[in-house]
Amino acid sequence: MMPKIELHLHLEGAAPPAFIRGLAKEKHVDISGIFDERGNYVYNGFEEFLAVYEAATSVLQTPDDFARLVTAVLDQSAEQGVIYSETFLSPDFCGNADVAAWREYLHAMQEAADRAERLNGITLRGIVTAIRHFGPERAKPVALCAAETVGGFITGFGIAGAELMGRPRDFAYSFDLAREAGLRLTAHAGEWGGPDMVADTIRDLGVERIGHGINAIKDLALCEQIAEAGITLEVCPGSNVALGAVKGWKHHPIRKLRERGVRVTVSTDDPPFFHTTMTREYQMLAEVLGFEDEELMDMNRIALEAAFCDPETRARIAKKLEPAT
Ligand code: ADE
Ligand code: ZN
Repeated sequence: MMPKIELHLHLEGAAPPAFIRGLAKEKHVDISGIFDERGNYVYNGFEEFLAVYEAATSVLQTPDDFARLVTAVLDQSAEQGVIYSETFLSPDFCGNADVAAWREYLHAMQEAADRAERLNGITLRGIVTAIRHFGPERAKPVALCAAETVGGFITGFGIAGAELMGRPRDFAYSFDLAREAGLRLTAHAGEWGGPDMVADTIRDLGVERIGHGINAIKDLALCEQIAEAGITLEVCPGSNVALGAVKGWKHHPIRKLRERGVRVTVSTDDPPFFHTTMTREYQMLAEVLGFEDEELMDMNRIALEAAFCDPETRARIAKKLEPAT
């Protein structure tokens, strides 16, 4: 199996439905409405997806719940050949963005990640993530959580959620705070917003990576700017197809972006929600868009170069990615 580098995975969004159902039962929470008769998450469109996501997350209530989630998610990723994963972690869901509480959740998650690394050889790094539809004021304590825990495991700061709420500059304070603390920066943009949203995100938030960014393809001058700046896109094709951000696999712009010289990488976003895995993403890229193994490996190399880890970790993972070299 091809080893894989994944840069864009939401921890709660990667939760297997059976895991969430099990926790709901333990805690006597009724969230049966978010599952279909086969036990999969069910929703219609992006807004409902976000609501179902938050309902599923409501059963994750303690540091131990999140530690168990990290174990389940890393087991799942390791089975797909993922050797390095960057995962979005949300202080909003871990003790209401309170720094002291966040430290406890983080400690539990990190222990679980260390255990998974020993058992499965998969390395995890965390990107602290604000949630856009919770608003710019709420992003500030989240950025503070990130700033207070930067180093080693926590390497980045980002923003996800409803992209069309507000403008990137509304969140500039939080991104500035995170940057000054030494965090690397990424933001979801150009999944639902147009190229203007991608351009504003780069200009106003100073990010070095963009989550999705696919609508940049609608402005070729912007593509050139992104390529020249060496900004990396965390592209999640199966997510875009499942949520309707693109019309179908055949229409996905990932190859066109790559041909424009944009640094593109491949991730799953929230795999169980989109009935996907890293293996399936690679398979679909090969079958529908004609990606050769060498191109897939090249995107893995790009992903590792754009990873927010320290140089020693990068060098260690590089040897695993290409053992012969
Ligand atoms: N949170 C989880 N998945 C997301 C996505 N695809 N877009 C925005 N926010 C998200
Ligand atoms: Zn995402």
